[in-house]
This record gives sequence, structure tokens and C-alpha cells, in this order.
Amino acid sequence: MSRLFVPGPVDVDDQVLNAQAQPMLPHRSNEFEVIFQRASEKAQRLFFTKNRVILSASSGTGMQEAAVRNFVNKKLLACVNGAFANRWYDVAISNGKDVEKLDFEWDEPVNPERVAAAVKKGDIEALTIVHNETSTGLQNPVKEVAEAVREVAPDTLICVDAVSSLSGTRIETDAWGLDFVLTSSQKALALPPGLALAAVSDRALEKAKTVKNRGWYFDLLLLEKHRLKDSSPATPAMSLIFALDLQLDRILSEGLENRFARHSAMAKRVQTWAEEHDLSIYAPQGYRSQTVTAIKNELEIDIADLNAFLLKREMRLANGYGPLKNKTFRIAHMGELHMEDINTLLEAIEEYLKK
Ligand SMILES: Cc1ncc(COP(=O)(O)O)c(C=O)c1O
Repeated sequence: MSRLFVPGPVDVDDQVLNAQAQPMLPHRSNEFEVIFQRASEKAQRLFFTKNRVILSASSGTGMQEAAVRNFVNKKLLACVNGAFANRWYDVAISNGKDVEKLDFEWDEPVNPERVAAAVKKGDIEALTIVHNETSTGLQNPVKEVAEAVREVAPDTLICVDAVSSLSGTRIETDAWGLDFVLTSSQKALALPPGLALAAVSDRALEKAKTVKNRGWYFDLLLLEKHRLKDSSPATPAMSLIFALDLQLDRILSEGLENRFARHSAMAKRVQTWAEEHDLSIYAPQGYRSQTVTAIKNELEIDIADLNAFLLKREMRLANGYGPLKNKTFRIAHMGELHMEDINTLLEAIEEYLKK
């Protein structure tokens, strides 16, 4: 099997791929509803929530759109320190919301005090923040931001994009007081793309009742109404849900703590290796991602050429994202990857650098 060290889509285990090949069922049948319910209940454990987890036949961006449509009549705060946070801002603007953008340098974490100052007036209905910026390999201090916001603006809903971190590192939805946490299937969950999952708090659903023009496909109240009947309003991504059901068993049998430790050990290995090779990490110490590392391309490596070299060994890594293309390159360490894979990749990069 080739090894994808790109931050999604990532390699999917063969058994999980094959689970998609199960015969279809009528989606309103009892047989399918049992699987749908089972998968969404198991998913609650990944999010550390006792509240519901919505399964959406969309990629993660669909759930970014759901947040802005369901929780905001007027004003939203978008915390932006990377490309995907900026996408969420764009999604809100294109849905006609009044968005205050709180910009940070891309190599700086979102600062809890600045967020608290921005929501203090009490007119911000919801804020958006990306937990793990895949574009920069920076992990934002979501727990601290949520705490700071609660103190000054307890009604502001906290919406978190955990697309590239959920199941690779601990995100405690309920304990941290998060209202909406979304993720995509093709990242740390190691499933094929096409499914999004989101944990939704009770108060977020209460707020949605007051919001007009939530749309239809991503109306969380409609999704919740059907979820209570173990289904979804439109036809679910059935094959992906078969795969999710199995993958959640695999994840839970690995054990969440073991899984987090595996990701963290791989992150440490990549980050230490880079520093030992005179390459610095884009994200500052203390805020480095557990699932993807962006390394500054201080050696001016031709990333396309490096990837062509790696591809002969059936491996690929990712160039920098957007404005960081060629200025950084990214090594993902998520999903099904293990330390042996990371070691093989790093050895191959060393061989390339020697040449
Ligand atoms: C942090 C983050 N948010 C959002 C997205 C968009 O997710 P999707 O492609 O599943 O819509 C990505 C995709 O890479 C991402 O990394």
C-alpha cells in the first residue's frame, strides 16, 4: 500500500475500505437505522460528548456552512490564523452574515484575551475557530479561548473546526463548553472523504430555533428531528456509514488514550527530526499540531522533486498550503500511520537530501 503523508485524504485500512462494499439497504429500514444509531453513538466518545453527533453526507465545509446558517441571525466573530479559518470566514460572508474578522499572524495562536475583548460587547452570537490549522500545523488553544469567552459573553456559541485533529488528539466538547465541533472523515479518522460529523450542544439547537433561513440541507433542527428516528432527512452516505461503523470499532479498540499517544509520539519524532536537520517548525513551541507538521523550507528543497523521489518509494508528503507553498512542506502523522512509517519516510528524505 502506498503511504500518504499528506493531511487528507489519508490511507484507509483495507477492511474499512471493504466495509463500503456491503450491499445497500433501504435507508428507512430497521437494519440500516440500527447501524446509523450505533455509529453516531460510538462517535460521541470521540468528541467526549453526551450530546448528539450529526452525520452529514458532505465534506467538513458543509458543517462550516451549517454553523453560520443555524446559529447566527446577524453577527459572527471569525478568528483567523490560517487558510481554513479564512475559509470559514468566507463561508459566513457568502451566507450574508455580518462577520467581524479577528486576524492573527498565521504563525501565532489565537489569543484568548483578544477574543474575549472582541466578544465582550455581547453582540456576537457565535464565534468560529479552527482547532488544528492544517495549512500551518498550528494547534489553537481552544479550551482557553472557550474559558475566556464564557467569562465575558456566556451566550456566545463556540464553534470549532476539528477537521484534521479529531480522534488524533483530545478535544473535550462537553468539558470545554464547546457548542459545535465539526470534523471530516478523510483526516485523522482515516475514512474515505465524503462524510462530516458534528457534535451539537443543546443550547446550540435552542439558538437555531430563533434563526431564520437556516436553509434545508444543513438545517440542524431538521437533521436532529430525523436523527431522533435514527436517520437523516435526505439519503445518507450509506457506504461511508458502514465504513465509519467499523472504523469506530477499530479506533475504540485501539483505545483513545493509546491513539492520542501514538499521534503525539509521531508528531514529536517529526518535529525533533526537523530541528536536528536545521529545519525549523512553522508553528511556535507549545502550539504544534499532533497530526500534521509544517516545516519551514529553509534548505530550499524543490518539493515537487522531493515528492517525485518519494513517489518511487510509494510515499508522498504535502507542499505548503496557499501562500506557504514551497516556503514550507507538510508531513502528516495521522490516521493509520505508525512510527515505522514515519521512520521510513524520514530516512527517505535524508537519502534525498544527501544526494
Ligand atoms: C482545518 C480544515 N478545515 C476545513 C477543511 C475543509 O474540509 P473538507 O475538505 O472536508 O470540506 C480542511 C480540509 O483540508 C481542513 O484541513
